[in-house]
Amino acid sequence: MAKSKKSWEKRLAGQPDPLTIDFVESLSYDKRLYKYDIAGSIAHAQMLANQKLITKAEFKQIKSGLLETSEEIADGRFKFDKKFEDIHMAIEARLIAKIGEAGRKLHTGRSRNDQVATDMRLWMRDEIETLQTEITLLQKAFAKLAGKYIKDVMPSYTHLQRAQPIVIAAYLLSFVEQFERDFIRLGNCGQLLNISPLGSGAVAGSTLPLDRKSTAEQLGFHGISRNSIDAVSDRDFCAEFIFDCALIAAHLSRLAEDWIIYSTSEFGFVSIDDSFCTSSSMMPQKRNPDLLELIRGKAGSVYGALMAMLTILKGQPTGYNRDLQEDKIHIFTAGDTVSQSLDMATAIVSHTKFNTKKISSGLDEGFLDATALAEYLVGKGVAFRQAHGIVGSLVAHCEKTNKKLANLGLDEFKKYSSSIEADVYESIGAVKVVSKYVTEGAAGPKQAKKQIAYWQKRLAQR
Ligand code: ARG
Repeated sequence: MAKSKKSWEKRLAGQPDPLTIDFVESLSYDKRLYKYDIAGSIAHAQMLANQKLITKAEFKQIKSGLLETSEEIADGRFKFDKKFEDIHMAIEARLIAKIGEAGRKLHTGRSRNDQVATDMRLWMRDEIETLQTEITLLQKAFAKLAGKYIKDVMPSYTHLQRAQPIVIAAYLLSFVEQFERDFIRLGNCGQLLNISPLGSGAVAGSTLPLDRKSTAEQLGFHGISRNSIDAVSDRDFCAEFIFDCALIAAHLSRLAEDWIIYSTSEFGFVSIDDSFCTSSSMMPQKRNPDLLELIRGKAGSVYGALMAMLTILKGQPTGYNRDLQEDKIHIFTAGDTVSQSLDMATAIVSHTKFNTKKISSGLDEGFLDATALAEYLVGKGVAFRQAHGIVGSLVAHCEKTNKKLANLGLDEFKKYSSSIEADVYESIGAVKVVSKYVTEGAAGPKQAKKQIAYWQKRLAQR
């Protein structure tokens, strides 16, 4: 029936197939853009009035109609009808139902193509701020935990084999660094995306005298896009945002993996608080780190979103294509997943204890002090490559005789190198080694203290 036809579909014969209505709609997920859509529409209408394309009275009607609609949505009074396809048409239809003729003028000089690109940039700006706040909270939790373990020694690992001794604080601070890069990366993404595509229309701009700079300014963009064709087809910011989320997910997943391993009976390095563990439906003794496992697992969804976004972009001809509607599913998945995982990780980090007794009781395993012993020999004038060989032989000797380097007598040491003297005992043993680290950024207590002070100051400014 022509009467119930949507105005933007007058050109089509008959009614859309019911399958079409379900398949084409994005309202079920893009409704969360409503605030941004309304902000964009108010800015656009204000500009139309300034440019005398609509009257001031019409602008007032449009603005109050849109604000009312916004309240209806916020209060759950709005009826989302998928026949309107998306949030843009649903809001416009409601506006027209409310105010009539003036509502029909809102879309002057605009297309859903520049509208949706604007909405998404506005959404993403806010989402980035939220994620940055969550990242900061996680960093603070790490820095605080690090403050409790400045002097406590643990093994470091390479290839998951014992490497050199470190203080627990240094280990924890390594995560603050990772998340700092994530914070900066998101900020860069936010900077780059903060230009207004509004006024680019469907693809070629408009014959009407739109003032693009004024809408950009009203919406807090720092400029306008230069090319209308690019403006409506560009989703680089989506791919970049999801990539940034994917790296956050990677960092969270590596943390989760560490702590899943560290909380096993075999390691026993950390105790994850019971409130962040689950049990088993069958094995009554179980205390499982499921939340950490979920953080690790959720990285998969974020990576999937990244791959999906990149694939959506590939092979699209220039200009807007409806493929792009799918972008929202993936930016929302990436943002939501990472946001949830960041909050969970912050809670877990804030309640985790390192079992320092258990850790220190095992510190003499794995020859953590071997590298420091080689460097001791360098201090005595032995070439490093030769020192490396001497210590290698000493370690083999210890393994055969079931000893630790620190238990060897001076006479035993002397059999391997005449350069080893009585002061060697000051340079070996995991606990002594960490206080011997002198390089900037090393994993010793002095450096950890300095880094904690740095982070406390830097994070407090956020
Ligand atoms: N819901 C659409 C999207 O998310 C809005 C743009 C539709 N434009 C069009 N010309 N059909 O991309």
